[in-house]
Amino acid sequence: MSVEIEKGLISANLPHIFYGGDYNPDQWPEEIWQEDVKLMREAGVNLVSVAIFSWSRLEPRPGEYDFEWLDRVLDLLHENNIKVDLATATASPPPWLAKLYPESLPVTSEGTKLWPGSRQQFCPSSPAYREKAQMLVRQIAQRYKNHPALVMWHINNEYGCHVASCYCDISAQSFRLWLKNRFGTIEALNEAWGTSFWSQRYGEWDEINPPRSAPTFRNPTQQLDFKRFSSDELLSCFEMERDILRQETPNIPITTNFMNFFKPMDYWKWAKQQDVISNDAYPDPSDPSSYLETAMAYDLMRSLGNGKPWVLMEQTTSRVNWRGQNALKKPGQMRMWSYQAVARGANGVMFFQWRASKAGSEKFHGALVPHVGTENSYIWREVSQLGRELGQLDALLDAQVKPEVAILFDWESWWSLELETHPSSLIKQLPQTRSYYEPLLRQNIAVDFVHPDSDFSKYKIMLVPQLYLAKEDLGPRLEKFVSDGGTLVMSFFSGIANQNDHIYLGGYPGPFRKVLGLWIEDFEAFQPDQTSPIAVDEGGQAFSSGLWADFLHLEGAEVLAQFKGDYLAQRPAILRHKFGQGQSYYLATQPDAEGMSWLLEKVCREANLAPSLTTPAGVEAIVREKDGAAFLFLINHNAEIVELKLKQNYRDLLSGNGGSQIRLEPYGVAILVR
Ligand code: GAL
Repeated sequence: MSVEIEKGLISANLPHIFYGGDYNPDQWPEEIWQEDVKLMREAGVNLVSVAIFSWSRLEPRPGEYDFEWLDRVLDLLHENNIKVDLATATASPPPWLAKLYPESLPVTSEGTKLWPGSRQQFCPSSPAYREKAQMLVRQIAQRYKNHPALVMWHINNEYGCHVASCYCDISAQSFRLWLKNRFGTIEALNEAWGTSFWSQRYGEWDEINPPRSAPTFRNPTQQLDFKRFSSDELLSCFEMERDILRQETPNIPITTNFMNFFKPMDYWKWAKQQDVISNDAYPDPSDPSSYLETAMAYDLMRSLGNGKPWVLMEQTTSRVNWRGQNALKKPGQMRMWSYQAVARGANGVMFFQWRASKAGSEKFHGALVPHVGTENSYIWREVSQLGRELGQLDALLDAQVKPEVAILFDWESWWSLELETHPSSLIKQLPQTRSYYEPLLRQNIAVDFVHPDSDFSKYKIMLVPQLYLAKEDLGPRLEKFVSDGGTLVMSFFSGIANQNDHIYLGGYPGPFRKVLGLWIEDFEAFQPDQTSPIAVDEGGQAFSSGLWADFLHLEGAEVLAQFKGDYLAQRPAILRHKFGQGQSYYLATQPDAEGMSWLLEKVCREANLAPSLTTPAGVEAIVREKDGAAFLFLINHNAEIVELKLKQNYRDLLSGNGGSQIRLEPYGVAILVR
């Protein structure tokens, strides 16, 4: 593997911040292409993703390929010095595949077949789909492997976006193979799935099916394993294509575009197979807090690549077309949100799509070239300005964000946490994770996400919101982290079940009792509007809490805050346990936003962790650094001007202005250097 791939950069071939988007020239007559490349140059576009949905054009009839039009597109782009992120075109099979191989169509858990006429209508386990996809990818790779415009491969598109699992008979067979591989014997499966319950015991492998529609609650471990299988099955489609491309072009990096915190795909597993992490983001401009969620997703993307730069592969210039009412980005907001990605480690700012379609389901979706054309278009003015600016920012390319706080995040635990028949259906992974993330974001403390199996030693603080499912060995690993001087903060309903979703018996939370210095006898799930006051013993701060109350016993932990009022009074609500050189905090309930803010501020202060800068509400401050140089990004999410007084003199890379007084326009951005 080449150095560039290792670093997740395409620096040798395109040593700039990538700027461009999905380019669908096959939707337009050839005359338009000339205008396209002229405009691309004008806007500073240096990279386009080509042929993502072109299978039916590239292979109009089975085995009959038509590449000449694509040859001309790629040559034209090359003549204009625009690089190509070439797609494998397998995301939307042509209608002939369904006609010849109806069994290649996916089936829902209710047994409904999903037909052609939109996109992504393939069963991931279908041999016909896999075979035809491989043939196409081989053709594309062999034809374009030496094309000078090619700098990256774009495999498929947003795997699982519309069809994350298939429940058909072919999928059932694949699922059985996957299970044989996992468990070896049917006895082991019966044990893992707890099939003594409700007479679910299996005698033969072929009695087992995906968790199809059933009279009532389906076996939780069967559901969990099917989620694992479904993520793995699509990943194996990705790997099948990746292996062909790797063989033909060992030096061209490979990506597939992720979708933020997308529940069905275990992105930790997927990320290991990518050369470059890329992501699509469509925050809702009508929701003033959507930037918080986006920041969290961008931090996940950087973390998936272990700190490597990633690419914002898709966003819209103006509006999407798939919400009920599709709000426009306000003037300046597209630019500002683009820098939000760069600030959090992106080396690419791309869009869906280059030219707004005139037909099809996405004709009202924003694009760089809108329906009205470029003259007198505010969108065009904004995208051209951004293209020019990004073209001046090569200095950022290998600068990194280096957080000292990490949030533990695990897809398998997320899946099992949210299965039905739990004490409370109100406990959802992302809101719980956000309850930690947001106060830190508002305090400008940078955060990474980590998988439970990863190395925690570079962090000072580990935050563990609702890790319902945990492997036993995580207990000792967190004990080591804390006893070596780290700080752990963990929330209720963690460490409840093992990997098969079997409860750790004898007092919750089995593996974490020692590090937390407590054990839990029972708990109560609150009703939706139920709250309980809590108060801090020392300091007297008072907060409200919701969702949950643990009934616990101390085994070394001290009580920091207690429930007040009614039958919960005097029970511990927040605890601390000094352990070795570090300490663990435990939340036996969900404190309100002020309570979370208070706790996290205290924890950061105790760990000597300072914010990048203290800013007014709605202004993000985050640092990318390299070789001792720091780039301080200030991002104003407010529709008003914000003035900041800094302790030192800075120079803003974007405006060229210097001084210690910074004025951020509505949705304004500054990148400050010393
Ligand atoms: C993405 C997809 C694009 C386009 C876009 C519209 O999910 O990858 O092809 O459909 O959404 O917002």
